[in-house]
Amino acid sequence: MAINPPIDATSTPAWAALQKHYDELQAEGIDLKKWFADDPDRVKKLSFEAGDLHFDLSKNLITDETLRLLVNLAKEVKLDERIKQQYTGVHINNTEDRAVLHTALRRPVEDEGKYIVDGQDVVKDVRDTLKKIYAFAEDVRSGKWTGITGRKIDTVVNIGIGGSDLGPVMAYEALKPYADAGISARYISNIDPNDLAEKTKGLDPETTLFIIVSKTFTTLETLTNAREARTWLLEELTASGAISDGDEAQKAEAIKKHFVAVSTNLEKVEEFGIDPENAFGFWNWVGGRYSVDSAVGTSLAVVYGPAQFEEFLHGFHEIDEYFANTPFEKNVVALMGLVNVWYRNFFKAASHAVLPYDQYLHRFPAYLQQLTMESNGKSVRWDGTPVTTDTGEIFWGEPGTNGQHAFYQLIHQGTQLIPADFIAFANTPNPVKDGDQDVHELFLGNYLAQTKALAFGKTADEVRAEGTPEEIVPARVFKGNRPTTSILGVALTPFSLGELIALYEHITLVEGTVWGVDSYDQWGVELGKQLAKQITPAISKDDDALAAQDASTQALIKFYREHREF
Ligand code: F6P
Repeated sequence: MAINPPIDATSTPAWAALQKHYDELQAEGIDLKKWFADDPDRVKKLSFEAGDLHFDLSKNLITDETLRLLVNLAKEVKLDERIKQQYTGVHINNTEDRAVLHTALRRPVEDEGKYIVDGQDVVKDVRDTLKKIYAFAEDVRSGKWTGITGRKIDTVVNIGIGGSDLGPVMAYEALKPYADAGISARYISNIDPNDLAEKTKGLDPETTLFIIVSKTFTTLETLTNAREARTWLLEELTASGAISDGDEAQKAEAIKKHFVAVSTNLEKVEEFGIDPENAFGFWNWVGGRYSVDSAVGTSLAVVYGPAQFEEFLHGFHEIDEYFANTPFEKNVVALMGLVNVWYRNFFKAASHAVLPYDQYLHRFPAYLQQLTMESNGKSVRWDGTPVTTDTGEIFWGEPGTNGQHAFYQLIHQGTQLIPADFIAFANTPNPVKDGDQDVHELFLGNYLAQTKALAFGKTADEVRAEGTPEEIVPARVFKGNRPTTSILGVALTPFSLGELIALYEHITLVEGTVWGVDSYDQWGVELGKQLAKQITPAISKDDDALAAQDASTQALIKFYREHREF
């Protein structure tokens, strides 16, 4: 089915109405304190439940009218149609002519036979692959799968980059309390040799299993690191006498026992020397940054086990169903995406902070950066025409309370508006007391205090009342009206982590639909890759290649040549 050209959001009646509404709010003055005082139902009206997550949107710069107009905008750009097309496998990634079916990765077994896309029963294929991954994971966890010397694996090393790294490492860090098989994981991504050098330090090659994860199995960083890891393994095993130098059959066996792969390109996997039996596939309709719940998450299935991986998938599916089946007026996932558009396009907010108050989520902002920015950092729409308004905001963040002591100053008192999502959980796996003080409550006190300070600020009179000398009163005033969304979960579990990821995947889709961009391609990463291939020979010896470079690149290479010590 061909997709329609994007609807220009800026020429819709809803957009014009939103602009008028924005101008009126600015003229009246946005005043969250007043809005809270005038409307005792504000919190109730702007609180939502999705899955087991609770959302409070009341501290956003929105009124009933704002939401009504944003929902009109969603309808006028036909968001419902785009969601339906995505969920049913229409090739909405039209620049790559692909379906976008990450929602099929988490459909239950009962959905087998219901989604035939391009002649493929996608749910059946997903469940068959999961069975294979789970059997492998159980073997590694139980010790049935051993290294070349018969010892149980205690470390899996995931080698991948971008979507083949950020999702798995983020989820691995997030779920650490669930590790129950005496297996830990490490993640190597950067082609900088320092990454591999540090991550292989202290590893016992006999008990280490490498998982090479690459959708294409052609990515320079991943293939280079995979070859380096293979060399490391064989050298270490030879040095310890576990295998004999020159015994090619033993080497091949060692690779078989210590390397598995995740890829859509099984031919390349075999070329590398990995037994295709030990390769887990996925499909072109899974984008790299949408793939943590596919075979790309194999390291998670090994460390946390199939049952927890299933819980992870259930969490995604819960939000997928909620998003697809809840009217936009009550659909917090859609509303969060629309409110982001409100800030990006009307308030001209250039960035959006995501601030998890949970140390285990410390890689969540980095993960979201690829998800959101590789998806919506676009200047042309899906029909090739220029975008008609600003797109992709910069997503960033650090866990609370560390961020409080670093960059919150700018969010509180800087000159730019930075909408922020604050994420926390009612329970912690590490309940401790400092004297009588529950430390988790101390932590949550900070979570709550920050959004309160950002919303309601502190007036000059309040500052004066504290006896502050007049000359420093202005420096101590907080203007307030800095927007935040609070997300509060019961606990950080595989289920709630799946929910959170799906939430941001769909927020990305909502924003991309309003802007009319193909959120599922990533052509912007290609030019640098091509140029790196051309420039690399110029660095050490190829003077013709050097001469072909621009003056700045030549000067930088000359400095390098003068200073590199071998
Ligand atoms: O360079 C961008 C990118 O294509 C990402 O979209 C992707 O997640 C990453 O590279 C890794 O690709 P692969 O899984 O094919 O190695």
